[in-house]
Amino acid sequence: MAEVKVGQTNLVAPGTATVVSVEGKSIALFNVGGTLYATANECTHVGGPLGNGRLDGTVVTCPWHGSQFDVTSGQMLKGPARRPVAGYRVRVEGTDVFVALD
Ligand code: FES
Repeated sequence: MAEVKVGQTNLVAPGTATVVSVEGKSIALFNVGGTLYATANECTHVGGPLGNGRLDGTVVTCPWHGSQFDVTSGQMLKGPARRPVAGYRVRVEGTDVFVALD
């Protein structure tokens, strides 16, 4: 699938997360020390918005029930979720940010 431009690098400040839409799909975008990562916005527990979660280093905490995921891999680190979250490829060109849903 082709990459989709989601905005500029100032969309998400270092140490924070935001939510963007890619082809109608809600995607969480994270800035870890200047490097951007993307996962599905829906927590694999019951769909909490990970892009509204707290980011500590590479770990996002779901705002609903506290599940934790590594945003660099989607790996689940702490329940109640029991499955990893999908991760997506992010590419930055200049100040443009692209996400691919492949
Ligand atoms: S929805 Fe994320 S921990 Fe429950």
